[in-house]
Amino acid sequence: MREQILALLLQSPDRYISGEDIAQRLGITRAAVWKHMDALKKLGCELESKPNCGYRLVHVPDSLAPEILSTYDFSGTLKRCHFHYTQQTDSTNDLAKRLAAKGAPDVTVVVTEAQTHARGRMARPWTGEPGTSLMFSLLLRPRMRPTDAPKISLIAALAVARAIETQTGLTPKLKWPNDVLVDGRKICGILTEMSAECDGIEYIVCGIGINVNQKQFPLELRNIATSAYLECKRETSRGQMLLVFLTQFFALYDAYLATEDFAPVISEYAKQSALIGKTVTIEAFGKKSEGKCIGFDRDGCLVIEQEGKRKRVVAGDVSVRGEGIYV
Ligand code: BTN
Repeated sequence: MREQILALLLQSPDRYISGEDIAQRLGITRAAVWKHMDALKKLGCELESKPNCGYRLVHVPDSLAPEILSTYDFSGTLKRCHFHYTQQTDSTNDLAKRLAAKGAPDVTVVVTEAQTHARGRMARPWTGEPGTSLMFSLLLRPRMRPTDAPKISLIAALAVARAIETQTGLTPKLKWPNDVLVDGRKICGILTEMSAECDGIEYIVCGIGINVNQKQFPLELRNIATSAYLECKRETSRGQMLLVFLTQFFALYDAYLATEDFAPVISEYAKQSALIGKTVTIEAFGKKSEGKCIGFDRDGCLVIEQEGKRKRVVAGDVSVRGEGIYV
């Protein structure tokens, strides 16, 4: 109901709508309207109320609360998700795993405004700023082989790149396996984790942190991280970014699950790769190796050339020497 009231107010930003009018249109009492207005104020909406005129919406916050998100969910994306929103948690990945253990369904989207123990890949900490970062995890229960799970990271990275491009006009690059860069600096990190038996996946948690409206980063990250705000000098709605991401993710994910054909993802991923043609160093399982990145195979593994021979890299941490990449 709160979503419907918000939608009504959004339809007429320049005029007041009376409580009576809202109550009649939505078939609720005036007391109920008043209660919902109060709840909207608590969500951060700025409402002006004038005796004998009614209510006018002055400002909608960049909140990730489902009531706010659903007002611009034009394609109905949220309807297929179980949405779990919280103001603060330790890590959305950890919360998603706890929910999974209690039987949370496919697809549960865990969204928060702040994390106290956010984690990155290789047990690194992740810095996300409350209110300006977009931090969330997808809990998925796909019917696929455990060995195919890394494909989810590549699908997520591509969907993030599409969402950033749509919402900001920037042209992100992808650093295999799952970093998204703008101007050689990291704008998004993805941490995919899985619980599986040999023959099947119990669940996958794909955690995503997008730097949306940060105006600056701590000193130690300043050269390696960027945000949409720093690149475009204007704010971007985190809620709209999340919805565009989810729409793009489901388009890619559903197509892959239906066809088991990963080639379309790889072909788009390769076009946006920050690595092809570059000399890369890969650190995996305590060993370092170097080679020229020549592309990706049909499973999404990195292919490098080393002393004239092709080598397939299944997992690892990649770094690039110079060449405009700082991560
Ligand atoms: C990386 O680049 O190393 C991955 C960073 C992943 C950060 C996100 S923020 C939401 C989710 N919750 C976490 O604790 N981590 C991921």
